[in-house]
Amino acid sequence: MTVRVCVTGQPVSYSRSPMLHGYWLKKYGIDGAYGREEVPPETAADFYRSLRARGYAGCNVTAPNKEIAFSVLDAAEESAAVLGAANTLWFEGDRLCGASTDGYGFIANLDASAPGWDGERKLALVLGAGGASRAIVHALVGRGFERVVLANRTLERAEAVAALFGPRVVPLAFDKAGGVMGDADILVNCTSLGMKGAAPLSIDLDRLRPEAVVSDIVYVPLQTPLLKLAENRGIRTVDGLGMLLHQGVPGFERWFGVRPQVTDELRALLIEDLRA
Ligand code: ATR
Repeated sequence: MTVRVCVTGQPVSYSRSPMLHGYWLKKYGIDGAYGREEVPPETAADFYRSLRARGYAGCNVTAPNKEIAFSVLDAAEESAAVLGAANTLWFEGDRLCGASTDGYGFIANLDASAPGWDGERKLALVLGAGGASRAIVHALVGRGFERVVLANRTLERAEAVAALFGPRVVPLAFDKAGGVMGDADILVNCTSLGMKGAAPLSIDLDRLRPEAVVSDIVYVPLQTPLLKLAENRGIRTVDGLGMLLHQGVPGFERWFGVRPQVTDELRALLIEDLRA
């Protein structure tokens, strides 16, 4: 019987997940279907509770439903519990289970694209304190970084995120980020700056060490002004598209039983779609 999965949220029309999972289903010859369901937050709790009755083996969850989905789970992986949000849902027996795979996607992408990116794991500098930032801070702490400095325009937001993780995560005002730049093994932009239509992220990379890595979660455009700046200084960069591809891997494996590969061909397909 065809295994049915979908992406849910509002809006879902922009989601690249159907293309990603559709590519893998075809590649591995799996009898599965991956669709879209527009689910407004008002009816989201009911939707996720009745996921199986609707014929689904699981789903992805996008904005604004990640917290609602988390709240109806029977079992949450640590990745979801720490964020209070889930983006991947599946069943184990009758139990609705959930995880947040953004942190996994972030790390897997760096491991694949920039081996040795974590340097001596002394210091990671993260810019921004929204939902994506939380997942990435959690992943960096899990990777064993001694210190994760979280710099944000609104200091209180950085403090609130840091408080979730203990003393290894240090909040900082955005304009003080330059002060720790020279110690960073990796700089990650988790703000919306640099995104198409937004202002560029203007930050001085002069003190960054040549071995450091600069990574951006923004992927439209693929080469953000930040990445361009780093590249001009001869610093290794990792764009945000790979994270999007890798974060889909754990869900696909749970639903369809095959651990899919993130290939150059898949990346090229997504790049073509983003250009269109
Ligand atoms: P998400 O949940 O997708 O990560 P978000 O919650 O909207 O997104 O967070 C966006 C991030 O970009 C925030 O850290 C925000 O800073 P504030 O917490 O101070 O709002 C940051 N950001 C957006 N515009 C910015 C700007 N012009 N300068 C500095 N930071 C900015």
